[in-house]
Amino acid sequence: MRRPMIAGNWKMFKDKDGVKAFAKELCSKVKDVSDRDILVCPPAVYLESLSRAFSGTKIKTGAQNIFWEDEGAYTGEISGSMAKDAGADYTLIGHSERRQYFHETDETVNKRLIAALKHGLIPVVCVGERLEERQDKRTFDVIGTQIRQGLKGITDAQAVSIIFAYEPVWAIGTGKTATPDIAQEVHAYIRGTIQGVLGKDRAEGMRILYGGSVKPGNVDDLMCQPDIDGALVGGASLEASSFGKIIRFRG
Ligand code: PGA
Repeated sequence: MRRPMIAGNWKMFKDKDGVKAFAKELCSKVKDVSDRDILVCPPAVYLESLSRAFSGTKIKTGAQNIFWEDEGAYTGEISGSMAKDAGADYTLIGHSERRQYFHETDETVNKRLIAALKHGLIPVVCVGERLEERQDKRTFDVIGTQIRQGLKGITDAQAVSIIFAYEPVWAIGTGKTATPDIAQEVHAYIRGTIQGVLGKDRAEGMRILYGGSVKPGNVDDLMCQPDIDGALVGGASLEASSFGKIIRFRG
């Protein structure tokens, strides 16, 4: 049985007071929830205060990105150990906005993944096709390559903690969610591809989250699908009220 996970990605939103208020409200909304993992990925500058606000609860924090070197002259970057120091247990890797705006490639995703594992961060590796790729019927090709390149050099033992997130780029922030059937079809393909790289046991145990306009109103149907193990939520994770409702999905 794969344990469900609901993860929030705040992207570049919120201020100090907003972080504090959110933490207080979310803690009270989900204090009785214990059968699923809860994760919030704030901007890096708020990692420490948010981690502190969640201490003593089951809610975990994650970075939105880490660099692959441990330290050095890399202005603007943070390392895995720094994220860890600030209280993160997880890190997103290869989010489509990183790929689109910051020239992230499958090769750099792989480097960041190796760094995350080295520092004991649980990586949430994001994959997904763009609209034109779906229209050209290249969805499986694109995602297959992202997974195989992303996992290059990763051993079976190292892969235990890895989580994947399927985020069709055309569904992110657009209000257009993939239907549960479309999402399930790709999730099953992702699991099959992981099986090809890491074997059946690892594939069966690996959690695959869906992301792209997840809301309180559509999460239940998505979570009913056999290969959807959780959600990576952007916009609807910014308010504790909507994020709390998503966390309480009925699957
Ligand atoms: P969205 O973002 O829920 O706002 O579509 C999802 C994501 O980018 O992780």
